[in-house]
Amino acid sequence: MSTAAHFSLASWSLAPLSLVEDALSHWVTTDALPGQDWGAPVELVQSMRYAVLDGGKRLRPLLVMAAFEAAVAPRTDGQKNAALRAACAVELIHAYSLVHDDMPCMDNDVLRRGKPTVHVQFGEAAALLAGDALQALAFELLTPADGSVPLALQGRLCGLLARAAGSTGMAGGQAIDLASVGSVLDEQALRHMHRLKTGALLQASVALGAACGEASDQAQRALNAFGQALGLAFQVVDDVLDVTADSATLGKTAGKDAQHDKPTYVSLMGLERSQRYAQDLLTQAHAALLDSGLKDTAALAALADMVVHRSH
Ligand code: IPE
Ligand code: IPE
Ligand code: MG
Ligand code: MG
Ligand code: MG
Repeated sequence: MSTAAHFSLASWSLAPLSLVEDALSHWVTTDALPGQDWGAPVELVQSMRYAVLDGGKRLRPLLVMAAFEAAVAPRTDGQKNAALRAACAVELIHAYSLVHDDMPCMDNDVLRRGKPTVHVQFGEAAALLAGDALQALAFELLTPADGSVPLALQGRLCGLLARAAGSTGMAGGQAIDLASVGSVLDEQALRHMHRLKTGALLQASVALGAACGEASDQAQRALNAFGQALGLAFQVVDDVLDVTADSATLGKTAGKDAQHDKPTYVSLMGLERSQRYAQDLLTQAHAALLDSGLKDTAALAALADMVVHRSH
């Protein structure tokens, strides 16, 4: 199934992309917090801004915003504030995961988002600290001291993001990834690794948006299934692009998975079957949207299409 012909993802994305870009630039700052008389060290914030601003597809924030918009209309200013904070928070966790993923102790990559990686530009200690601070900042955004996000929602959002980022989510998946270098994983083990290292944060993006929009239980269950299918599809396609795309298009070094002997969908089932599997997952994602009972899912559907049909 394909997305409604009249829907333009490019046009829809303009507003959330600009909101998220401005908000990230505003929040990743040296400014002092209210009640503090010191701000953050300039060099640390410089490396954080380098990691976060002007780059990336912003898929996770777009998923937050699309799920939020699907879940609720009309939207209050308070709900919009929570959704924007959640969108930025998940992108901060993602950016931190990339900074650490690229370090010499992990994938040892020198190119990210078309620029030298953070540790190449600023050094390893700076990259480690930039990642640490980005992770903490994500939770600062979800817990504004001005009370503009209700306490119960703050707790809900923090719980969702923490679990997706932690040892049973992204960090756990990264640990399995590193431990699996040079070994052959069966399909079940590979799926588990991908669901954790990449799927968890993508699934959480959808769940965060749905939580900000106070989606019904039925909608949240369906959106969870959507996020799970899309999250796995995303990493299957990432594995495919590592083989089929060039570094200039990807903005990161192509061919690294085989070079590092990483188990991937391509190494397990070959290129064609991997591409077909991504397509099957896309069909599952669309089916989940139909089950959600939500009317306005065109942006979510188009984002799923983009995940599977993207060139970078
Ligand atoms: C790359 O993610 C890292 C993985 C989780 C596979 P993206 O492809 O979303 O990277 P950006 O944010 O667009 O740079
Ligand atoms: C990275 O997976 C996943 C996370 C950063 C959590 P990869 O190592 O495949 O990502 P790329 O290909 O370097 O972007
Ligand atoms: Mg990696
Ligand atoms: Mg990597
Ligand atoms: Mg990869």
